[in-house]
Amino acid sequence: MTLLEFQLACSALADEAPALINGAMSLDAWGEVRNALLGRKAGRLTELMALLPQLEKEERRAAGAAVNTLKQKIETWLDAAKAALESSAPPAPRHDLTMPGRAQWKGAVHPVSLVIDEICDIFRELGFTVALGPEAESSWYNFAALNFPDNHPAMDMHDTLYLKGDGVLRTHTSPVQVRTMQAYPPPVRILAPGNVYRRDFFDATHAPVFAQLEGMAIDEGITFADLKATLAHFARAFYGARTPTRLVPSYFPFTEPSGQMEVFFDVGDGRGERWIEIMGCGLVHPAVLEAAGLESERYSGWAFGMGPARIAMSRFSLTDIRLLYDSDIRFLEQFA
Ligand code: PHE
Repeated sequence: MTLLEFQLACSALADEAPALINGAMSLDAWGEVRNALLGRKAGRLTELMALLPQLEKEERRAAGAAVNTLKQKIETWLDAAKAALESSAPPAPRHDLTMPGRAQWKGAVHPVSLVIDEICDIFRELGFTVALGPEAESSWYNFAALNFPDNHPAMDMHDTLYLKGDGVLRTHTSPVQVRTMQAYPPPVRILAPGNVYRRDFFDATHAPVFAQLEGMAIDEGITFADLKATLAHFARAFYGARTPTRLVPSYFPFTEPSGQMEVFFDVGDGRGERWIEIMGCGLVHPAVLEAAGLESERYSGWAFGMGPARIAMSRFSLTDIRLLYDSDIRFLEQFA
């Protein structure tokens, strides 16, 4: 080996060392680099020194000087790097700016909840508060207290999901009417949103579990005019100020008289404007007031029940109710 070759080997290591040293991002890594460079057994500098005997005698002084200078340089670099590691905050993260961005997940309120929230907002301005009742209900609250005769078809095994004993999965939110009247003296004005259950097939227009939204107002002297004015106000607030509304006669055991409210509205299914039923309603039947412990001669009231999923279908021009229950992200994220 010649002196020149030895000197070239020294300067090659001098070129390489700073990158190795500065690449150490922790004290552990620094220790490993130090060992790789200066280690007594297999360090790069030790390997260089082991070459010295191969040189001519006259050249060894110069070679020794070169290797010493290199050793000092490496030690200086190592000391500086160690000081930096000890003093510095954790090393700056090395971001890869070429990585493609990650799509962000955005949560959304479910369209049925959007509709419930919006309806509650409209009625809240009128002094209504939200009341909740159990989904596993006793058949008394679900049927008997609501003036269903004993043999009413809604109580058929084919329509209702019975639980052990006397229980049923409530088939509507109307039991909350009775529970509210029992718990709070009039005047009361409540909205009761919640899930209800029926033995229905799951098809484009039916679901065996679906949300309902019940409303009720009880006080002295409440008449059908209050029902009509309040529900028409609601319909215009929800569907637009010029939306025509009408009440059509209907029947429920727990209201007398009973009706259904319809709005003249284009649901966006290509058939144009037409009358759409949005709720059942009526004056609370005196038998229901009495069952709940109120004097029917003194108090009166009205109630309604809506299906927010149906309302959501008309509002968002949906033709299949299953979209609202499938939890398909491609559908739901459109509401984010
Ligand atoms: N409970 C009725 C139903 O499920 C709706 C309703 C509620 C009707 C309140 C009148 C008054 O169809």
